[in-house]
Amino acid sequence: MNKKKLSTNLIRAGINRSKFMETSDPLFLTSGFIYESAEEAEKSFKEEKTRFMYSRFGNPTVEAFQKKMAILEEAEECWGTATGMAALFTIFMSYLKAGDRVVSSKALFGSCHHIVTKILPRFGIETVLVDGTDLNQWEKALKKKTNIVFFETPSNPCLDLVDIKEVSNLAHKVGALVVVDNVFATPILQKPLNHGADIVMYSATKHIDGQGRVLGGAILASKKFCKNYVKPFIRNTGPSLSPFNAWILLKGIETLELRVNRQTKSAKDIVKYLKQSSKIGRIYYPTDSGFLQKQITKKQMIDGGSIISFELKTLKEKEKKVTFSFLNKLKLTEISNNLGDSKTLITHPYTTTHHKLTSDEKISLRITKNLVRLSVGLEDSIDIIEDIDNALKKAEKK
Ligand SMILES: Cc1ncc(COP(=O)(O)O)c(C=O)c1O
Repeated sequence: MNKKKLSTNLIRAGINRSKFMETSDPLFLTSGFIYESAEEAEKSFKEEKTRFMYSRFGNPTVEAFQKKMAILEEAEECWGTATGMAALFTIFMSYLKAGDRVVSSKALFGSCHHIVTKILPRFGIETVLVDGTDLNQWEKALKKKTNIVFFETPSNPCLDLVDIKEVSNLAHKVGALVVVDNVFATPILQKPLNHGADIVMYSATKHIDGQGRVLGGAILASKKFCKNYVKPFIRNTGPSLSPFNAWILLKGIETLELRVNRQTKSAKDIVKYLKQSSKIGRIYYPTDSGFLQKQITKKQMIDGGSIISFELKTLKEKEKKVTFSFLNKLKLTEISNNLGDSKTLITHPYTTTHHKLTSDEKISLRITKNLVRLSVGLEDSIDIIEDIDNALKKAEKK
């Protein structure tokens, strides 16, 4: 099946049909499974027989999701998790031990930043943050033995890019595994494993579901890494993906390519509109002609994706007031910290997703009070633009 084209695999790969031969993926909503005999149960626990035993360890619907994701990402193996954060935490906690070292880009989603800067150090793990856009900083930080290198590219919210190939080369020289959070790009627009990364993680809650229904996560890595670290960690600590959520995500994957391509097209229409508006300041979008890292976009991304971040032009002292007023005047676009939905959503990272960062951390990541992050949905881009235009006109003046 994985020799087929992407669009075919999104629909057909991984299906785990029951004896009833249903067309849609079956939902095995069960916590446990029954053994024919005590001997069979014993053999299963001794791993002399491979079969489903308990849904914390494995479930046919979750397995179908995992198979489809692995084919989509061109990875040897996938493990589903309850959320994107569970995916990242599983990677870190299954592999690292006291005394180990992590080097990470500082441009991270708030909860990823919390794990790296607050939780890992409590377990005796040294963490070093670098400006992920600056290869010199990576080079300097990766002079010592390191266990994991972690980054988001594009990052949340300012879409900073990290050169996956160059950083992977540096990381591998000091023995580190490279973990990429590929949430913004999606498996449709960027495949980090093909650029040298070792592990990819997703919040499946975002574009993979794509319709704002369920939480989920995924870890994509080598069979060896999954066998030695991910499998025993998930099995024994339980950040497992629910079969119901896996079933919803399977349905989401079927339309992932169509949605992401359509959202990307609309995002470009919106960027075009924003660029000619006198009310808009800096715009962050990977394929925009003004984007500082567009050479890296070309190197590793197929297209720019569905997320745009931009600043409103205001006086410094009125940044928050004017931006809140703009958000509150939007009618179609809704205020939500989620992203990747079929509905267009907008958030103010300074007071929501990144509010826990210190002022200095926010400044260094360009998370200003007049910055908003727009997740472009599936509505007609003409209507989204009209909504933004009306809200800009009605918003408090700068
Ligand atoms: C880049 C990125 N990584 C990880 C996550 C965490 O995902 P989840 O909410 O599924 O735990 C998010 C959520 O917003 C995100 O934007």
